[in-house]
Amino acid sequence: MSIKQKENWGSRLGLILAMAGSAVGLGNFLRFPAQAVQNGGGAFIIPYLTCFVLMGIPLLYVEWAMGRHGGKSGQHSTPFIFGSMGKGFYWKYLGVFGIFTNLAVAAYYCYLESWTMSWAYHSAAGHFMGKTQAEVSAFFNSYIGLGTPEPVVFWLLCLLLNTWILSRGLKGGVELASKIGMPLLLLFGVVLAVRGVTLTAGVNGAVYDGVVGLNHLWQPDFSSIWNPVVWRNAAGQIFFTLSLGMGSIQCYASYVRPKDDIALNAMSAGWMNEFVEVVLGSAVIIPIAVGYLGVDKVVEMTKGGSGFGIGFMTLPYLFAQWGPVLSALSGMMWFGLLFFAGITSSLAMGTPCMGFMEDNFNWGRTKAAWAFGFAVLLLGIPCVLSQEAFGEFDYWVGTISLVIFAIAEIILFAWVFGMEKGWEEITRGADIAVPAAFKHIIKYVTPLFLLVVFIGSLPEIWATLTKPITPQVLAARLLLAGLFAAISGLVYAANKKKVAL
Ligand code: PHE
Repeated sequence: MSIKQKENWGSRLGLILAMAGSAVGLGNFLRFPAQAVQNGGGAFIIPYLTCFVLMGIPLLYVEWAMGRHGGKSGQHSTPFIFGSMGKGFYWKYLGVFGIFTNLAVAAYYCYLESWTMSWAYHSAAGHFMGKTQAEVSAFFNSYIGLGTPEPVVFWLLCLLLNTWILSRGLKGGVELASKIGMPLLLLFGVVLAVRGVTLTAGVNGAVYDGVVGLNHLWQPDFSSIWNPVVWRNAAGQIFFTLSLGMGSIQCYASYVRPKDDIALNAMSAGWMNEFVEVVLGSAVIIPIAVGYLGVDKVVEMTKGGSGFGIGFMTLPYLFAQWGPVLSALSGMMWFGLLFFAGITSSLAMGTPCMGFMEDNFNWGRTKAAWAFGFAVLLLGIPCVLSQEAFGEFDYWVGTISLVIFAIAEIILFAWVFGMEKGWEEITRGADIAVPAAFKHIIKYVTPLFLLVVFIGSLPEIWATLTKPITPQVLAARLLLAGLFAAISGLVYAANKKKVAL
């Protein structure tokens, strides 16, 4: 086995921005506000922050530590990182989740990302000006219904861009993209947040001040604190937003040198994500949409909890009320921000898949990047063609797999690899003192918490599985199962090769 590190990050700042870029995604600006509104506004934030501390922070430490540990033996993807930490053959196959999830999430995520490119273009060209709300909605519906070839063109462009950046490697590709994308995202986010918060009733047709929406999100409300559904949704949001349970963090961390800090880095990237989500994510779409439409309407429009309706249909229409110049600028900033948020996340989904092929089959970077792009193209076709397939991918992979994988990894880390060794992995080279309480939290609290969340979702999973389904749903499920089996086959082949050596 080659022990040499293939690649490393160019700088600490680059690493933190890339990690934060992976975490900061569409989830921060669309999913978070929609989830918060749907789960009772101020009532959501308490479970959300509790999940961040008891699940988010511990898993960040664990995933970073596992990644850097794997990098020492030349492994950059979870099948063989798991394999290096636990003896049972099944660990390698549980590690398959860390490639499977990235590929399957990328399949629909890159498509969404391509929408932001298209909407930025239409905003810049002033195409939303003078349109009624119904016309903007009709545009959206015809777009996702493939009324024109445009969505496919933007999707292919987006895939090519991702592939090209990935083929340039960590320093010249991912790191550079994050160094450009993240500062711009922050700038656009701050400008739009200021605009959202200072929205004034009576100006440009707004009915309420922007703070009305903010108050709805931030007024603490203890009423739903005992509602398990709110807790499950809060946990799901923490997973998705921090990119936990995917194998992407492990991959990025595996390119950190063995003695370099991970504790402070993990916290910097994690907290940066929380700042962007909780501060900026709540200060744009909700204040603006509530300012024009009122709380009740916004609650109704965020049903489903994804935020796409408000983000793509309502906001461009509301921006258009601000006059041609401000509207074009706001649209470019909003969709530009979503684009940078999206692309720095999809790049993170590409690296584990590439690392796996490079480490185990001696593939070069360019070949691996193109293979990833091609796989995402093939897997994306059902998501482009059918909303139902899209929903299946998001449910099974973007929600359920994450939790299963996280349960496996924390048991492996704290109980099989062992918490003493694990703690040494987390704290080696640390530039901050990691509070000792986390040793116990990681060993007992987080696994228990995860199990409770998972067991709590079992009735819903069962109901989903036993519901009558359409052929599209069946096809999507079979495709996902086939993908998992195919990656397992690759792990089997790679393992055989290693044993033969
Ligand atoms: N964290 C990203 C978001 O909030 C999504 C993501 C998941 C990115 C997994 C990378 C890996 O949108």
